[in-house]
Parts: sequence; C-alpha cells; structure tokens
Amino acid sequence: MKKTNNCVLVIFGASGDLTFRKLIPAVFDLYLGKFLPENFAVLGVSRTAMSDDEFRSKVVFDNKEVKRAHATEEQYHTYSRKIFYQAIDTQKPEDYAKLKTRLQEIDSLCNTEGNYVYYMSTPPSLYEVIPASLKAQDLTHENNGWRRLIVEKPFGYDLATAKDLNKKLLNCFDEDQIYRIDHYLGKETVQNLLVTRFSNSIFEPLWNRNYIQHIEITAAETVGVEKRGGYYDTSGATRDMVQNHLLQVASIVAMEPPVVANSRFIRSEQVKVFQSLRPMSKKDIEENVIRGQYTQSTIKGQTVKGYRQEEGVPAESRTETYVAMKFFIDNWRWAGVPFYIRTGKKLPTRATEVVIQFKNSPHHLFAYNEDIQNQNNQLIIRIQPDEGILLKFGMKVPGAGFKVKTVNMDFRYSDLSDHYVPGAYERLLLDCVQGDSTLYARGDAVESAWEFIDPILKEWEENRDLKIYGYPAGTWGPTAADRLMEDEGMGSCWRFPAPSLTDDATYCEL
Ligand code: BG6
Repeated sequence: MKKTNNCVLVIFGASGDLTFRKLIPAVFDLYLGKFLPENFAVLGVSRTAMSDDEFRSKVVFDNKEVKRAHATEEQYHTYSRKIFYQAIDTQKPEDYAKLKTRLQEIDSLCNTEGNYVYYMSTPPSLYEVIPASLKAQDLTHENNGWRRLIVEKPFGYDLATAKDLNKKLLNCFDEDQIYRIDHYLGKETVQNLLVTRFSNSIFEPLWNRNYIQHIEITAAETVGVEKRGGYYDTSGATRDMVQNHLLQVASIVAMEPPVVANSRFIRSEQVKVFQSLRPMSKKDIEENVIRGQYTQSTIKGQTVKGYRQEEGVPAESRTETYVAMKFFIDNWRWAGVPFYIRTGKKLPTRATEVVIQFKNSPHHLFAYNEDIQNQNNQLIIRIQPDEGILLKFGMKVPGAGFKVKTVNMDFRYSDLSDHYVPGAYERLLLDCVQGDSTLYARGDAVESAWEFIDPILKEWEENRDLKIYGYPAGTWGPTAADRLMEDEGMGSCWRFPAPSLTDDATYCEL
C-alpha cells in the first residue's frame, strides 16, 4: 500500500455545500476505513466567523451526510477533534497571514509535519487569489513539507479562460502539485474500464475500428437543476458534463494501452485521445450536435416545472439541459467509428453507462428477429447505478431450426462478497494525500478537451438560428437526437437504460 504522510487538509469554501455533502463525509469514510495517516487534521476556511466547536457541530454532528450505520459515538468524537476552523476573508491576501499562523499551530498540536493539501471548493472567482495569496505567505514552496492544490470544477469557462487559469496556477504551484478534480475519474466503475480493457486478453483484440460499429456514452439524470439555476444557466449541459466528465470517460474508453499504469503514462494516453478529436465544422455542429431544454410536464400526476420556471433561470433562457453529439476520433484505432455522447437533466431514469456496439457478423447464416439484429453484440459498462458489466450475444432459440435471440450475461458489483465501493471523493482525496495524480486531469488534457468544445459553444452563441429543442421533463430528450444514429442503419438507436443493468429496450416506467 502507498505511504500516507501526516498532513492537514485545508478546505477553502468550508461553509459551502460540497464540504457538507461530500468532503467531510469522504474524509470520515477514510477515517473509518483506517486510511488516514496517524496524524491528520482538516482545517475549514471561509468568511463566516465560527469557533472550532461550532464548525464541528455543523459538519459532523448535525450533518446527516456523515451518518454511518456502523460508526460509533466515539468515532464521531475522535473524528471531530481532527477538525478545525479558521475564518478569513479569502479575497484579502493580507488575511492569509492568519491562516499561516493557524497552520503552524495545528502542525505543532497535531504533528502534521507541514504537509498541506489545499482544496479550493469555492466559486471560481477565487481560483486566482487563493493560490497567489498562499504563495505570498510562502505556503506553496515545498521547502518544509509538501504542498498540493486541488482545484474543483469548473476549470475555466472556455478555452481562453482555462489556459489563463492554468497559467496563473503554474505561477504559484508546479504542475505535479496541482490536482484538477473530475469526480467521474474517482468512480470505481470508471477506473474499472481500464482494468476491463487492459487486464483481459479477450476484449482488447476487438477494441478497434475492425470490430466496433460505434460507441455510445450516456449520462442520464432524473434531477433538474434544483437550487443551482443561477450557476447552471451560465454553464449548460455541455460545460457542466461533457467538457469534463464525459470526455474523460471517452478518453479512457478510447486510449491506447499505457506503457505503465501510472499517472504519467495513463494521462499521456488520455491527452493523445483529446488531441485526436476531430474538430467540428459549423455544418457538423448543426447536424451532429443536438441540444434541448426541459419543458413543463406531468409526471405520475404531478406537474413538473420546466427549466425556464426554475429558480434563478431567466424566462427566455436558451441554456441546454440536454446535449447529444456524434463525433470522431481521428487516429489509427478509431478511424471511421462514430462516438455518441448524450447527457441530460430530467430524463426518465438516472443511469450512466458506456455501450460498445460491435459490428454484425459478416455473413448471416441464421434467422434473426429484425429488431435485434443490430443489437446482437453489445458490451455495456454500467458506471451507475447497479454498477456492473453486461454482455449481449446471440443464442439459439431451443427447438426446430436455427432461430437466434439475444441473451444477457452480466456481472454486478453487488454480487461481490466484499462489495464496499468507495465514493469518488473518498478515493480522490486519498490519492492526493498519497501524491498520486493518476485520476486527476492534467493541464494539457483540460485544455485539449476545451479546444474540442469551444467551437460548439461559440457557434451556439453566434448563430442564433441554431435550434434548441424543448423536451417534456421526464422524457428521453429531443427526438432530433434519435436521428443522429440513423446513419448507422438497421434500426440503430440509443440504448434506453433502466435502473437495473439488465432491463433494457422495452423498459418504461409508468
Ligand atoms: C456535477 C454536475 O459535476 O456532476 C452536476 O455539476 C451533475 O450537474 C453531477 O448532476 C453528476 O454527478 P453524478 O456523480 O451524480 O453522476
């Protein structure tokens, strides 16, 4: 097991939602799993004045996200004693002197040896001032302990702002001190994509243009924008989900085998995929990128708001809550293989999965039901929920003749006897503390992903004639997205995932 040094996790934006919902619970899980080093502390930093005890009550004792059935009172108390709080005005560089003093106090109290992870869980407007102010206090140099910086998404608003942010961060930290978080990479099932591909000899020989017809990646959500209308309206599904999470997943599906399974080699292979994304022309954007926005509807007898009626969303908003696109990766392995990606809010079910659609057998000997012919060989890698893998293949229908039907072979994580699946933040925080950046996005990867997305966003901004389709909340998005697959022929269509991995195609919740 990798060495976990004693250290302090400094969370900027400590009174924010992410701290309560994800970070403090994730560190608690690490503590319960005995993954934390012997000496460890969390220092919450934000503007609100609060004592250590008030902060502890807020984030541990009164926080339902931290409740674990198997945790004892003593464990909650011990954990809470590792948590401290410091109020500063994060906008004011001079206030960081207080932070420095506090860190020195914690170091001597807890023996944390001057090793610090800084987690920026703040609005992006602070991504510049925090690193610069830390640098001014000599809190970024690794002269007396290591220093690492975790940067939350969004990483830039477009290519220019992402480049600018990279430059500013690199003025204060070296690239190997910077951890750009993409929580999809922390998901166990996303990492398992690497293992499925590169620890088996049966998939990789088929994993290319010779045997694969197309690849489909879906991230469907049932939730709407909830209370995040203000943020979401400046973002939209493409910035919120595609530029980061889904392109990261696509890069793992499409990459070449790394020389060694480490941060340097894995991330270099991912970058090569991003660099091979075929840039979209205006015509491609018009034809191959479909955006939608959910409209009011009735689900199970309840009226459900449309996006434009959500809190913080302008009545005339043209922000997309759904996007589907077809694109190509121009390299040796993937020449001519279409990749389809779609994501949306207020869809009928929550499911994220990758579908590898294999080509049909070259010569048809047997009778197929027409509707199944093109779905015969699919490998479905379910990222969430009901995590697992499903392989579909043709089998003989018992009885006379040679009739073929598609059958399922599945593996589910829940079938493992030890099936504790660590949460994404739990895994990623531990990796950072251990100095492993494999599952964090490298600066050049983020920039090349933006390079692909930027023209799409620009075209939408400049060409007001480009359509944005309404889709009733609770449906599978605009029908125009179905046309994207028409070129595939033979009745190809998106797979409609259900909550259960193995229910498909015919699934419909009433
Ligand atoms: C976040 C997006 O990054 O990912 C949210 O900002 C989205 O809009 C979320 O809901 C999805 O994450 P998960 O882990 O629930 O699939």
